[in-house]
Amino acid sequence: MAYTVPKLEDYSAAALDKAVEELKAALYQEADAVSNENKWKEFRDRWMARKNGILTQINDLWLKAAPGSAKREVGARVNQLKTGVASIVEAKHALALNAPVTFTSQGIEIPRAKDWESFRKLATDPVLDITLPGIRRPLGAEHPVIKTMNEIVSVFRAMGYSVADGPEIETDYYNFESLNFPPNHPARDTQDTIFISGQEKKQQRDRLLLRTHTSPVQIHTMEKHPPPIRVVVPGKVHRADTADATHSPIFHQVEGLAVDTNITFCDLKGTLDHAMKALFGSSVKTRFYPSFFPFTEPSADVQITCFKCGGKGCRLCKMSGWIELLGCGMVDPNVFNFVESNGYDAEKVSGFAFGMGVERITMLKYGIDDIQLFYQGDVRFLEQFA
Ligand code: DAH
Repeated sequence: MAYTVPKLEDYSAAALDKAVEELKAALYQEADAVSNENKWKEFRDRWMARKNGILTQINDLWLKAAPGSAKREVGARVNQLKTGVASIVEAKHALALNAPVTFTSQGIEIPRAKDWESFRKLATDPVLDITLPGIRRPLGAEHPVIKTMNEIVSVFRAMGYSVADGPEIETDYYNFESLNFPPNHPARDTQDTIFISGQEKKQQRDRLLLRTHTSPVQIHTMEKHPPPIRVVVPGKVHRADTADATHSPIFHQVEGLAVDTNITFCDLKGTLDHAMKALFGSSVKTRFYPSFFPFTEPSADVQITCFKCGGKGCRLCKMSGWIELLGCGMVDPNVFNFVESNGYDAEKVSGFAFGMGVERITMLKYGIDDIQLFYQGDVRFLEQFA
């Protein structure tokens, strides 16, 4: 006699379990009898058709009819049966097509079954109940550093900048020489890094190293594209720094470069002032403080008014009211000389460049006091940014 969905009179847990067991027994029995595609379609429709399929019937006869006090218990079972029936129907089909089936039950991944008999044996094993929901895999989220990096990039994209990237393994030429750090110049000491070994036979300019900043991509970009250019470069960089609360041997930067005719320091100020307001809020003010970088002249450090205390002085800004955020300056004519043949005549074009540390900005934005937290992969830390 074909199974029919009974009306329920008794809503006790024991009676519900019994009704569920009977339904499952019928499900497996009917699945056993499915031997070809047409029968499978009948089987699927009998159990899953929206209109009067068995799942629809249990929804009406069991769940909708249940008194308020029993809805929770009945609902949980009905939901489990929905998943269970769907996976049996699906497995029966896949196995008929010779596609091995893997499924989870009670959080256990069941090995691939090759045929319906072995699938059925696994699925009806009393310790494995495939009608129970599997484990919910938590959704990942953007890492806070990547999130900030994307925010910075989108501020500049909105101003018409393109995005470029470059290699993390660089030559001495791109990382230092073409950026106006001559061999043995003391400015190189502030950016010590790992050199690939066994390169003594190569000329110094060809020796490979892990890039210490994203600035080499300025040169790569100018070699590929004649002026005018406006580009931002997000990326990973390396330094021979010992890890502590504010240093990490690997971190991230966003570089920027704009070159055209008649670019002035005013353009640099206006651009970065706008970017800082977009990132930290429209009430921050910027200040440009004289500094030094070999590849810019003049060079400046950009500081913003402390967004925490508004400039009055607090722990975050070390009582100064100002927070230092990035380096920038007007592209040094010596840098253009390295790409002169690509259309960069230092007499005709001018430009500005800037570079910022993404971890530092992220730490300031979210009040994080230890850079190492970014790299430990502790979900309790990371999920706060989801
Ligand atoms: N490359 C510099 C660093 O890592 C940051 C920087 C400063 C980049 C000034 C620039 C710039 O483009 O103009 O310390």
